[in-house]
Amino acid sequence: MLKNIRALKPVFLPVCMVFILFYHIDKNYFPQRDHFSCKKSPNQTDRWLIVFWSTIFGKQPGIELKWNKSDCPVACQVTSDHSRACDADGFVVHARDSHMIPPTESVPWILYTQENPIYTSVMNDAKFMSRFKLLVSYRLDYDFPWPSFHMPNATPPLRFKEKTKLIMAAFSNCEPVRTEYMRQLMKFVQVDSYGDCLRNKHGLVERYGSRNGSNFLELKTELAKQYKFTLVFFNQDCDYFVDAQLNHALNAGSIPVVMSTDKLDEFLPGNLRHSVIKVRDFRTPKDLSDYLKYLSRNETEYNKYLSWKLEGIENITGTAIENVWKPKYPLYCQICVALSQGRIHEKGLEPIPCKARAYEDWGITPSSRTTLVMKNVMLLYLLSLLTPILI
Ligand SMILES: *[C@@H]1O[C@H](CO)[C@@H](O)[C@H](O)[C@H]1NC(C)=O
Ligand SMILES: *[C@@H]1O[C@H](CO)[C@@H](O)[C@H](O)[C@H]1NC(C)=O
Ligand SMILES: *[C@@H]1O[C@H](CO)[C@@H](O)[C@H](O)[C@H]1NC(C)=O
Ligand SMILES: *[C@@H]1O[C@H](CO)[C@@H](O)[C@H](O)[C@H]1NC(C)=O
Ligand SMILES: *[C@@H]1O[C@H](CO)[C@@H](O)[C@H](O)[C@H]1NC(C)=O
Repeated sequence: MLKNIRALKPVFLPVCMVFILFYHIDKNYFPQRDHFSCKKSPNQTDRWLIVFWSTIFGKQPGIELKWNKSDCPVACQVTSDHSRACDADGFVVHARDSHMIPPTESVPWILYTQENPIYTSVMNDAKFMSRFKLLVSYRLDYDFPWPSFHMPNATPPLRFKEKTKLIMAAFSNCEPVRTEYMRQLMKFVQVDSYGDCLRNKHGLVERYGSRNGSNFLELKTELAKQYKFTLVFFNQDCDYFVDAQLNHALNAGSIPVVMSTDKLDEFLPGNLRHSVIKVRDFRTPKDLSDYLKYLSRNETEYNKYLSWKLEGIENITGTAIENVWKPKYPLYCQICVALSQGRIHEKGLEPIPCKARAYEDWGITPSSRTTLVMKNVMLLYLLSLLTPILI
């Protein structure tokens, strides 16, 4: 007997240490669900309450919104005040801050994301997703669509002749395939790159910087107005992943040259149908460059892409994006209604897979980069041979 206890000794200490460690880690990571019990305030029972539980990219969202029955089919409130947890009818968690798990699973959890699964891997984790009952996301085909792409402004662009510059780009997450595509495009046509990827132009501040009271977006827009085209290569090809970069180009009146999946079409209703050039429609970067050069010389053909700026977007009735751009009720009101009607995924959400973008998807091979590396290696080698002579 004593011997058995001795034998346990080497196990006992590490187990104790693990317990002590866990005890000190932020309680949010390890919710004590079974011990969570509290009473709803009696005067709150007729108002549906959503508690935004997590931070958003580490920042407190500071949300406090309320609707009466006159503005929303059910009285509804959303708050980020954790002290209201006992009254919550649902908890919202931002996917990128998913370590902040709500204190109880007795009411539905709602997952919120505008990022795609490649950069938010929990979305492809079946166990994680199954704990959530509703999704607010960039997807137009799922629960509550909430993409960062908004209704573009139909404001008149600069005229053809006033756009003195050709193609601009300003992305700074140098995802290898889009960066390689741009590199190959640059071999055939001038592309002014203001972002961190293959930068060849200065004059735009960093993403969160500002100059003379203008922020990144305002400065980028001022630049884009003067360009006939803007490269809008999304950071991955995930279905329905369309973000505000597309707004920036459309608003500026610079024709977007877009790298995305074909679900893009659902974001471009009415007269927007013919407002973008899709990289997908061209076999090679050279073919694309030929078309852009052709348009840059033919005002009539070029302006066809901007006709929506003068005619407006027109009829979006019955499209998937209608409820995003012209919602009947605010987003959280819609969620309150769903909660009040028990319209949730009882068995939890399915994972949202997305395959990382590949060179083959865009008809390019990274060979030019390999040869570039080889050239540099050769150059260094030659320099090292020359060094003794030079010194
Ligand atoms: C609801 O009850 C809480 C305490 O449970 C109280 O602090 C609050 O003032 C009440 N609100 C209203 C609108 O009566
Ligand atoms: C809701 O109704 C109450 C009284 O019924 C009123 O005091 C309050 O201002 C209303 N709130 C909103 C957001 O309309
Ligand atoms: C900043 O604004 C002032 C006045 O508005 C102007 O004189 C100055 O040239 C501007 N500086 C830059 C770098 O644009
Ligand atoms: C532009 O394209 C149209 C066809 O849409 C053609 O009729 C016209 O001649 C072209 N103009 C120029 C300047 O190439
Ligand atoms: C808009 O389009 C929908 C469906 O395509 C159609 O039913 C509706 O009549 C149209 N409305 C207008 C004002 O053209």
